[in-house]
Amino acid sequence: MFHIAIDGPGGAGKSSIAKAVAKRLDILYVDTGALYRTVGLFVKQNNTDPKNAEAVGALLPSLSIVVKYEGGAQVVYLNGVNYGDAIRTPEMSMYASAVSAIPAVRAFLLETQKEIARHNSVIMDGRDIGTVILPDADVKIFMTASPECRAMRRYNELVAKGQNVKYEDVLAEMNSRDNADSSRDIAPTKAADDAVLFDNSELDFEQSVDAVIAIVREKVGDEANG
Ligand code: DC
Repeated sequence: MFHIAIDGPGGAGKSSIAKAVAKRLDILYVDTGALYRTVGLFVKQNNTDPKNAEAVGALLPSLSIVVKYEGGAQVVYLNGVNYGDAIRTPEMSMYASAVSAIPAVRAFLLETQKEIARHNSVIMDGRDIGTVILPDADVKIFMTASPECRAMRRYNELVAKGQNVKYEDVLAEMNSRDNADSSRDIAPTKAADDAVLFDNSELDFEQSVDAVIAIVREKVGDEANG
């Protein structure tokens, strides 16, 4: 069993690259951002201010989040319901970022994330995986790219999903979310001391996947086949 932690700001390609690496290595891909997005969705459903720590904390006892793997893909159930792509909108990105700064929310999601890694080889992506969730991960990568490059990728992703967005808005939203995520008091976006820094601004998707696989092989050797 081995664990790969991928951290970094939004739009660096963490999820799509990690998903492809998981497939090649035949291990689980764990998208931890989806958990914060799901808490954000629940907070919105309850007409609650996502920045109000007390009000959000009061909702947590009525929230159940269950992660399942169906056909190899992660599915998150919010009180028994899978909301699919409803957690992927720019609005939910902001909700997720706001609730993720609340200590009670991070504590609420901690065990769910650790538990998945306890029983499986995983590649897990987020902001605090190498620092908090899997401090003993065999491989830690801090993945990033220039802000313009990340915003353009995020913009293309949203347009491909049929969302009507402007590049300038995506860039501004991304910068504001990254600032909030990396300046908060609790578990800010940060490279672990023993993380490999990986800037993929100049690489395409396949090259990025190959680069991550090469880093993983160097660290865990033959255990990572694929
Ligand atoms: O990776 P993402 O864009 O789906 O994450 C949404 C938000 O959730 C992000 O702005 C910060 C938060 N997050 C976090 O605080 N810790 C994680 N491990 C993953 C996400």
